[in-house]
Order: sequence, then C-alpha cells, then structure tokens
Amino acid sequence: MHHFEYKQGELYCENLPLDQLAQQVGTPCYVYSYATLHHHFKVFDEAFRDVPHLTCFSVKASSNIAILKLFGSLGGGVDIVSGGELFRARKAGIPGDRIVYSGVGKTCEEIDYALRENILLFNIESPQELEAINERASHLGCKARIALRVNPDVDPRTHPYISTGMKKNKFGIDIEGAITEYRRAKTLSNVEIIGIDCHVGSQLTEISPFVDALRRLRMLMERLEAEGIVVQYLDLGGGLGITYDQEAPPHPREYARAILQELHGLPCTLIFEPGRVIVGNAGVLLTRVLYTKQTPSKNFVIVDAAMNDLIRPSLYGSYHHIQPVRPMGEEAQMVDVVGPICESSDFLARDRGLPPVQAGDCLAVMSAGAYGFSMSSNYNSRPRAAEILVKGERFYTIRERERWEDLIKGEAIPGFV
Ligand code: LLP
Repeated sequence: MHHFEYKQGELYCENLPLDQLAQQVGTPCYVYSYATLHHHFKVFDEAFRDVPHLTCFSVKASSNIAILKLFGSLGGGVDIVSGGELFRARKAGIPGDRIVYSGVGKTCEEIDYALRENILLFNIESPQELEAINERASHLGCKARIALRVNPDVDPRTHPYISTGMKKNKFGIDIEGAITEYRRAKTLSNVEIIGIDCHVGSQLTEISPFVDALRRLRMLMERLEAEGIVVQYLDLGGGLGITYDQEAPPHPREYARAILQELHGLPCTLIFEPGRVIVGNAGVLLTRVLYTKQTPSKNFVIVDAAMNDLIRPSLYGSYHHIQPVRPMGEEAQMVDVVGPICESSDFLARDRGLPPVQAGDCLAVMSAGAYGFSMSSNYNSRPRAAEILVKGERFYTIRERERWEDLIKGEAIPGFV
C-alpha cells in the first residue's frame, strides 16, 4: 500500500499533484510520502509486537536524516555499515543502544567511533575483525558488545549481486567457523558476546530461505548453549522483497508468522534490519522528458534523470514501473527511456510500453525509494537530485538539489599546474 495515486487523471503523492511539485522544485527529484513511510514502518514493527524486538532500519536503503529521524521517532533503530552511516544516524538522534553495525571491512577509525557512541552491537564478519574490535576496545578501555554474522549457506533465490548468505559470498562466517570464533571470543577480555546474526540477501520474494537460515541458526545456538555460550539477541537481517512489477512477496505479517512459528518461543530479543520493504514503494523519482527520438530500430524517450540518479536498471537490470504524471493518451508505444549519460547502459527502462509522451512531460519512476538516491553519484558531473518529503498537501525539501559548485567541493589545483 502506498500513497501515489491518480486522482482525476493526475498522479498525486498524498494530496499533492506531482506535476505541480515538479514545476516548483524542478527535476529530477526524489519524492517520498510521509504517510507511506510511517505506515510501512508501523506494519513491519507491529507484526512482531508480541515478542521483544528492535526494528533497525537499514540506512543504506535510504539515508536521509529526515527519514532516519522519522523511524527513530517511531521507536526504531538502525542497521549501519559505515562510519558515515553512524554519523547520519547520530545526527538523526538515533540513540547508540539502537544501532547495530554490520559490514566486512570496518576500519579502526570506524570501530573507535562506534565504540565511543556505545552502539548496541557489532555484527562481526571475520576472525580478524574480531581481533581488531577486541584490540580497539582494549585501547579505549571498554568492552564491545558483539554478535557473529553467520553465513548459513542458503540460497535466497534473488539477483546474484544482492545474495549474501551463500558460502561463495564474502559475508559472515560459516557455521563451523562461527563455533570456533565464539569459543575464541569467550576468551577475549574486551568483547562481550550478546548475539548471533545473519542476513541472506535482498529482495527475497519467498519465505523459505528466511526459515531455512533461522533453522540453521537455531541449531548453531543449541550447540553453543551446550558449551555455555548463550546469546540474548537474534538478528535476522533484512531482505524482504517488494512488488516492482509482478512479484508477489510475502506480507510482513506473513513473514512474522513464519519466523515466530520457527522460533518456538525462544527467549531472545529479535533484531530486524529491513530496508527496501519500508522505503521502496514510499518513493518515486520524478523526471522530465527532454526529447523524443525515433531511430530505424527504436523509439527513445530521453529524460533528465540518468543512471547516476537511479542505477538499479543499469546495474541489476531491475524493473521500475514508469508512468506519466498526466497521461495524455491510452495507446502504448514501445520505447526505451534513457538518460543523458554517455553510456549505453544509461537507461531507466527498455522496450517498455508507455502512453505517448513528448518533450516537457513529467514521468514518475515508481518504487524508487530504496537504493535510489542512496546509490546516486555525480557521474558525468551531474549534480545529485533534490529529495522531497510530502505530507498531506505540503512538501518539505529534505535535501537540496546539488549545485555545480558542490561538484568541485574539496578539489584543489596544485600550484605547479
Ligand atoms: N542488513 C544487511 C546486513 C544488509 O546487507 C542489507 C542490504 C540489509 C540489511 C537490508 O536489506 P533489504 O531489507 O533492503 O533487502 N542495492 C541493491 C540492494 C543491496 C542490499 C544490500 N544489503 C538493490 O538496489 O537492489
């Protein structure tokens, strides 16, 4: 459920016509619906209301501090993977005890920062990282709370680039290795074992990989318990998919039911790290048609958004529905929707049926709230788009469009040049 709908032939975000918004703030721009963000967070969080849990929004999906603050105000925490994400989370007022930190390459500087912010836990991804965290905590005279990220070797049946819980992936520690590392962690004086963690992949459209992973973790927990290693937190990562096209992923309540059933009343606090399922369908990318161009083999719709704004179609071949903000005609034409960047991979849609559009028309690239702006870049020296939050009939700029001056921020020309 989201709040982007046609009313009298015009696409609205909540009570604001998107055409009017595009005229006021310019394009390309990301537009998020407050009501949708709020609703999606609540639905996910409340699906687990009967058990102790913490919903840690995955910052990488959408990192704007206004959005993080919103989830924090609803009782959520965050899942971070860098010092920069920790900085954002703290700026958004997320307390340290609601922050979990994953990622295979945490630097000393990042570890120290997280220790000073007294985060809830580090999800440790390798034996060397365990040593590094113990060493940094000893240096700072504190104890790091830790979980080991276990790679349960389950196939999430998603795009290979976003599958993370198979043994060939770089993430986590395999089950046997995890036993060895838990034993070792127990002997280290500056870490405190409090949890176990896994994350098997993103955009999962079936429940079974989640349940398989959980089953393997539970078996591991039993083996650890037999050795006196008991954890309080069970972090099941993120990964629940959304509908971009025809996918029919499980509803968060269905996901919760399956997880809770598999837990058999295990006395742990559950941690979840959802990203896409909360923000994916709560945001769109608005773009304007610059030109249309017919070639002997294709019809191109050239728009002012490009792969630097939304890289998912180029990187993963992802589908994003594209709809005119004010549809003019019904009859679909087959087109490629492409951006101004000098790469043939710069497309938002290929061989797509679209109602006739012309220069000046505004299009909405749907389901762009997750991994949209957060993966955007300045490639081709294109300033990054504005981010707008809509609530009712009002809108708020939560990130200004970058200016050309921003592009050269920090650059310097040495005197000898
Ligand atoms: N936790 C960890 C440790 C993760 O690595 C991720 C995503 C999440 C949670 C959140 O997963 P979600 O609930 O959003 O599926 N750029 C790709 C997605 C990469 C996901 C990376 N990790 C895309 O555009 O599809």
